[in-house]
Amino acid sequence: MTRYAIPFTRPHRTGREAALVGDALGGDHWRGDGPYTTRAAAMLSPLVGGGKVLLTTSCTHALELTAMLLGVGPGDEVIVPSFTFVSTASAYALRGASIVFADVDPRTLCLDPADVARKVTARTRAVVAVHYAGVAADLDGLAAAAGGAALVEDNAHSLGGAWRDRPLGGFGVMATQSFHDTKNLSCGEGGALVLNDPALHERAEILREKGTNRARFFRGEIDKYTWVDLGSSYLPSDILAAILVAQLEQVKAIQAARHRAWARYHAELAGWAARHEVQQPHVPVAAAHAAHLYWLRVRDLATRQALIAHVAAAGIQATFHYQPLHLSEVGARAGGRPGDCPVSELVADTLVRLPLYADLGDADQDRVLAAVTSFTP
Ligand SMILES: Cc1ncc(COP(=O)(O)O)c(C=O)c1O
Repeated sequence: MTRYAIPFTRPHRTGREAALVGDALGGDHWRGDGPYTTRAAAMLSPLVGGGKVLLTTSCTHALELTAMLLGVGPGDEVIVPSFTFVSTASAYALRGASIVFADVDPRTLCLDPADVARKVTARTRAVVAVHYAGVAADLDGLAAAAGGAALVEDNAHSLGGAWRDRPLGGFGVMATQSFHDTKNLSCGEGGALVLNDPALHERAEILREKGTNRARFFRGEIDKYTWVDLGSSYLPSDILAAILVAQLEQVKAIQAARHRAWARYHAELAGWAARHEVQQPHVPVAAAHAAHLYWLRVRDLATRQALIAHVAAAGIQATFHYQPLHLSEVGARAGGRPGDCPVSELVADTLVRLPLYADLGDADQDRVLAAVTSFTP
């Protein structure tokens, strides 16, 4: 694999990870749901709107839990954006639901409420919104379009984002977080499930603990635990949770650094983008974004590939993003055809993401800016 002087992403080290991992290793609770897991969940909850937080092994696993908790199964439909990571869809397909792909808004690249409204049927059990790049989907429009279906937020990109001054993660009946090492905060691999309906708390604990009521047993509420429901093993080790606590301790500084870099791209590329009809991200007035990704959209696929090659020649890694899921092998087998989600198809070919991470220094960002603006689309 090519090594770049300026990679697309790089996990941030707060300097506290090793100490907290050492502390976790010094104790005897290495498994899940230990002291660091409890601390991480308590620190996360206010950042995602105050719901109950259960750490999981990934965002994918948290999405699988939402599917089980909603009781989604064969005969049900779940609407997801075509322009998203595979897990947004596969978690529901795994339970036997039919996936209905809706298109995204061309300005925010988030689920388009008008297309959701067109695709909702009596069988729609859930609508899954992805706040792409850290920018909120139109949550008012989606809540209206979803009708009686459950709204779930796939909040993998948007920890720290808001809609109408309320944190993302607090709008859906459930939300899911990712702490994969490409995300704003990371513990390598990890995630969280946010529960905004107290009626789901007890069952969520059970599903996450292999279908047992072990959590109640550990709280002393019952004298033995047993198999009571569906479930699997979704608990991250407390050692990983210690890394997450180190990151959460510095969430303000990490976000401030990312916002600074995002704002510089936005301001310093504006003239070049306007001259060459390149689209920059749009943050609706109701939204505060999480500075997760900085993207640009150019005219066509050839121009996008040329831009990636141009900056690569300067040692800079810029990348494309999702390919439309309705045209993936699985999506096509389920009937997805070119033209079904035209915006997703166009965005997949024309979007490029620039390096963005908390430790992207000014001099490196100068190099990225110079490389991009020396390209003529
Ligand atoms: C929108 C979205 N949802 C879900 C995921 C899956 O996250 P994880 O790797 O934590 O399972 C990703 C991963 O990048 C993502 O971008």
